[in-house]
Amino acid sequence: MAETLQGMKRSHRCAELSAANAGETVTVMGWVQKQRNKGGIIFVDLRDRSGILQIIFEESDCGGGNFAKAERMRSEFVIAVVGRVEKRAGAVNENLATGEIEVRAKEVRILSESETPPFPIEADSKTKEEIRLKYRYLDLRRPDLQEKLMLRSRIVTTMRNFMAKEGFVEVETPVLCKSTPEGARDYLVPSRVHPGSFYALPQSPQLFKQLLMCSGFDRYFQIARCFRDEDLRADRQPEFTQADMELSFVDVDDVLEVNERLIQTVCREAIGLDVTLPLPRMKWIDAMNRYGSDKPDTRFGMELIDVSDTVKGCGFGVFTSALENGGSVRGLCVKGQAAMPRKKIDALVDMAKGSGAKGLAYLCIEEDGSYKSSFAKFMTEDELHALVQAMGGAKGDLLLFAADKNKIVWNVLGQIRLELGHQLGLIDENRFDFLWVTEFPLLEWSDEENRFMAMHHPFTMPMEEDWQYIDSDPGRVRAKAYDIVLNGVELGGGSVRIHQNDIQEKMFEVLGFTKEQAWSQFGFLLNAFKYGVPPHAGLAYGLDRFVMLLVHADNIREVIAFPKVKDASCLMSDAPDTVAEKQLKELGIGILPVEDQKE
Ligand code: AMO
Ligand code: AMP
Repeated sequence: MAETLQGMKRSHRCAELSAANAGETVTVMGWVQKQRNKGGIIFVDLRDRSGILQIIFEESDCGGGNFAKAERMRSEFVIAVVGRVEKRAGAVNENLATGEIEVRAKEVRILSESETPPFPIEADSKTKEEIRLKYRYLDLRRPDLQEKLMLRSRIVTTMRNFMAKEGFVEVETPVLCKSTPEGARDYLVPSRVHPGSFYALPQSPQLFKQLLMCSGFDRYFQIARCFRDEDLRADRQPEFTQADMELSFVDVDDVLEVNERLIQTVCREAIGLDVTLPLPRMKWIDAMNRYGSDKPDTRFGMELIDVSDTVKGCGFGVFTSALENGGSVRGLCVKGQAAMPRKKIDALVDMAKGSGAKGLAYLCIEEDGSYKSSFAKFMTEDELHALVQAMGGAKGDLLLFAADKNKIVWNVLGQIRLELGHQLGLIDENRFDFLWVTEFPLLEWSDEENRFMAMHHPFTMPMEEDWQYIDSDPGRVRAKAYDIVLNGVELGGGSVRIHQNDIQEKMFEVLGFTKEQAWSQFGFLLNAFKYGVPPHAGLAYGLDRFVMLLVHADNIREVIAFPKVKDASCLMSDAPDTVAEKQLKELGIGILPVEDQKE
């Protein structure tokens, strides 16, 4: 039978004790990490969230009843121990914070027993993630996961304190919202009271925070849960948390300034990292041209080089036809990799094809100065020489080229650059490279929809000097939008918002909304804008991503207590699940046969 506390009160967490407590009688409680029975003496490693403490049981100290309990103890039993802190008689354990001491037990209670857990509770578990996620409550006992979540909590506290000091008001916005198109797919919640009608879970508090600006809150802040029904990746979850903010009477620089100080404060307080301000800024077009990405990893070089002018009129049809079709030819100079095995190069070519390229051309500059290349036979010596010059290629280098529409070339070379950066160990993992990417395009052409889509969202303010092109060349208009990037990951993004009705209406028109559609979707915002709206701007961080990068986790799941897996299910609770016929009936919902479910 499990015992109760019965007036026993914990005096310390395990790792709060040290040699300074020697001689004190303490009460500690936690889980049995390990029990070792050495005959007349039993050692128990006791674990709580602070760490591990060694308990020593000898019958002469604690009496037969307590000793018998210690004999019975197995891993993950929950126990309470009263005993005396002593300096260790045996060897000091350098690996433990409490390695100099042990607690000599006088009294012990077994508060709860445990079956043998499906995997050992230890840091850096080798157990498969599916098993760990199924038993997430046990997984979360592991010290490395606990540390990450505790750090996450510290980060949130730091943010809240900072925001409060800066005059931000924390306001909660609804989770049951109206579905709005654009962006990712919504999660829908059926209404019982209004059969056939649905709420949508918020993809972000965007519209509400803008309304709060209309209401005069001036500075808003929220740690907000967001929901997006999109394909999951290592840094994406269907529900995730934003640190979300909005400010009135500000422009781009004001938002960046307060956020730089927020980032600096969080990094200092959470991981003792000193971030130098101001943070570097890069225009979107420069990020694309130099790194082939709007979230460049600037921890290493190997930038893209545009060789379009050099190869104009050369003999290689792949290059010239890409240029004739309005595209470009760009390359990467991979230093010292001319001898890269053919198999590895082929893998890069496959990767390029996987990201939409028709191929990837290569040229190795051998140690004797000769070229080995997939396209040399199409070019003259002079043309090849000029190309190598333009790439800054030297003996021993490998040159890779993509020729296509800009968007494809950027994407392909951007990905290959990252892949090689990892493969060749070019990335200094100890660096924290923050970067603002600014001046994003306002609109992005969608071949799928055959129309322009908002690159950020439809409320993003165009840059004043570009607005004149909105009819003649919409793709040329840049936005007052910015992303904060850390080590090649988009940490957050935001923009100055449109606060003028005429510009907003024009935006909807360009995005292909009729007036009626715009009003039916966003009427409450457009209406609010009729009654005096301050210029406003904001930003939202992906909090999970921020924590992930600060703790050097390589997956967002490691910093979320109860994450979902790739197919958006929860392995522990089995969500999503079917519901009773009665529940569906109440909601007026019938389920189509599987074969009719997809259009
Ligand atoms: P955005 O859509 O860029 O902007 O989202 C802001 C940040 O949220 C994080 N994020 C995610 N994190 C985990 N899983 C996901 N599925 C996921 N999707 C996004 C990213 C991203 O940078 N309302 C605007 C912000 C604004 O304009 O103020 C917004 O939601 O780190
Ligand atoms: P081919 O003449 O099609 O065999 O192509 C010759 C070389 O050019 C091969 O190495 C292809 O991978 C490469 N290649 C083909 N299309 C492209 C492209 N769009 N960009 C870069 N290289 C390409």
